[in-house]
Amino acid sequence: MRKDKLADRLKIAVFASGRGSNFESILNSIESGRIKNADIVCLLGNNSDAGALLFAKRKNIPAVHISRRQYSTDEDFDAALIKKLDDYDVNFIVLAGYMKILSPVLVRKFKNKIINIHPALLPKFGGEGMYGIHVHEAVLKSGEKISGVTVHIVDEEYDHGPILMQETVDVDENETAETLAAKILNVEHKIYPEVVRLFSEDKIKIEDGKVVINK
Ligand code: GRF
Repeated sequence: MRKDKLADRLKIAVFASGRGSNFESILNSIESGRIKNADIVCLLGNNSDAGALLFAKRKNIPAVHISRRQYSTDEDFDAALIKKLDDYDVNFIVLAGYMKILSPVLVRKFKNKIINIHPALLPKFGGEGMYGIHVHEAVLKSGEKISGVTVHIVDEEYDHGPILMQETVDVDENETAETLAAKILNVEHKIYPEVVRLFSEDKIKIEDGKVVINK
């Protein structure tokens, strides 16, 4: 087996802190058979009220609430997180609205096997504080005529790492942050499952930090 080849079947942990609509869209694609070689083996959340956690429970997917506040040191938190991932034999991580930067230990352990989605065209409008409605407000304030969605590999910096896929949306004249958010979320639900599918079919390679996709 090639050294960088993913396992034959993706065992995905989804990390989510909020509503969980991207988690739902990926799960739908698995359930409908559009994504064939993958299972979501657990949902990890750092917020016990997260819609994503409730949704996982409804779908009988193990829902793990694990938060830094439950541990006295970063190292203990990391060790517990990694233990959970090992327990579920996870080999791929999908961040879907997870509001905490991952530790370098975790990023290195899952090098090129963690992906994130961002509701703008990175490298613009990313980084700390750029989440939720703040992103769309910043786009409108800047006067940009296009925004969009970025799916990227996660590295040790916020909203950084090789870009896997982007899709644009127009910013219309009477656009508000809310209307832009809704348009962008629709695109997210389309392209995030698509990227997971491509990984599950081993069609994405990262070579020297560059992404090569064989569709
Ligand atoms: C999405 O807009 C995503 O781009 C960002 O967080 C939001 C998560 O939404 N990273 P949901 O919880 O998947 O509905």
